[in-house]
Amino acid sequence: MARAVFVCSSKKVQAGSVTSLQEKFLALKKTQQAVVLAHNYQRKEIQEVADFVGDSLGLSYAAQQAKGEVILFCGVHFMAETAKIVNPGKKVLMPDLHAGCSLADSCPADQLADYLGKHPGLYVVSYVNCTAAVKALSDVICTSGNAERIVRRVPANREILFLPDRNLGDWVMQKTGRKMRLWDGDCYVHMEFTASSIDRIRKEHPEAPVVAHPECTRAVRALADEVCSTEKMVAYCKNNPADTFIVVTEEGMLHRLRREMPDKKFLAGPTDHCACAECRYMKMNTLEKAVAALENMAPEVQLPAEVIAKAKIPIERMLEWSLK
Ligand code: 13P
Ligand code: SF4
Repeated sequence: MARAVFVCSSKKVQAGSVTSLQEKFLALKKTQQAVVLAHNYQRKEIQEVADFVGDSLGLSYAAQQAKGEVILFCGVHFMAETAKIVNPGKKVLMPDLHAGCSLADSCPADQLADYLGKHPGLYVVSYVNCTAAVKALSDVICTSGNAERIVRRVPANREILFLPDRNLGDWVMQKTGRKMRLWDGDCYVHMEFTASSIDRIRKEHPEAPVVAHPECTRAVRALADEVCSTEKMVAYCKNNPADTFIVVTEEGMLHRLRREMPDKKFLAGPTDHCACAECRYMKMNTLEKAVAALENMAPEVQLPAEVIAKAKIPIERMLEWSLK
């Protein structure tokens, strides 16, 4: 598997198309010698000025390889925590420290500790969408890009508890045939897509392949031509000769796909209520707040040293298992 699954994005800002706020941001990025990492769900104007845009897995590698002493992480809190855990000596900033995740919230560390106390011996595979405190209680971390590979590496004699997303866990069970205990969490954004909303758009565009994120329900996944992480969506659409695609994930992904493939057409998978699914947490980060973060060198992601030490072990295991 290629180590660098992210794209260097700032080179793609075309001369003359940069707004004055983006110019201010790029100047600050230079003076503060900051590396800017942005998730595929970030706003278009942030993606355009980031050094790297990618999925959770790509951003974990980008954080690990980041040069310089400052990382500005444009994503949600658990992702920035991961960057801090693999770079404890660096300053990790976020545009908005309150950018959380409903999925991570569905598995509080105290509830997990209680569960593990009552069910000793479980092998805990945690999706990266969880807090650092939950990672510290885990045996290995996975992302949607490597979940199948990671689960296949877990010793066959161990019973797995997969958390916090039951839909991703169900998808991995379908792919691997391995039975796992699933934590009862979900992502509120991906739960908004329904079989009827996707069936409707499929009928309107029968020629367009449907790509869906594995956080969608089994009924929605069953209607997709491809189920994959946000980064793999880019590769799938590039390699598929079709010129129109239906994209069933958070709407920020459409910016990334349109920038990478300006000649192809990408339609937002609709929910039953609207034609765009926005993660309210991802969208808390704005370019204005990103500029302020570089001006003030704050807010900064802080984690207790003992949490960093414990959470580092399963993250490093994931990075190692993803490569071999
Ligand atoms: P990726 O792992 O595909 O980047 O997805 C992260 C996420 O938060 C999905 O909702
Ligand atoms: Fe969390 Fe869902 Fe937002 Fe991803 S889209 S960050 S899983 S709430």
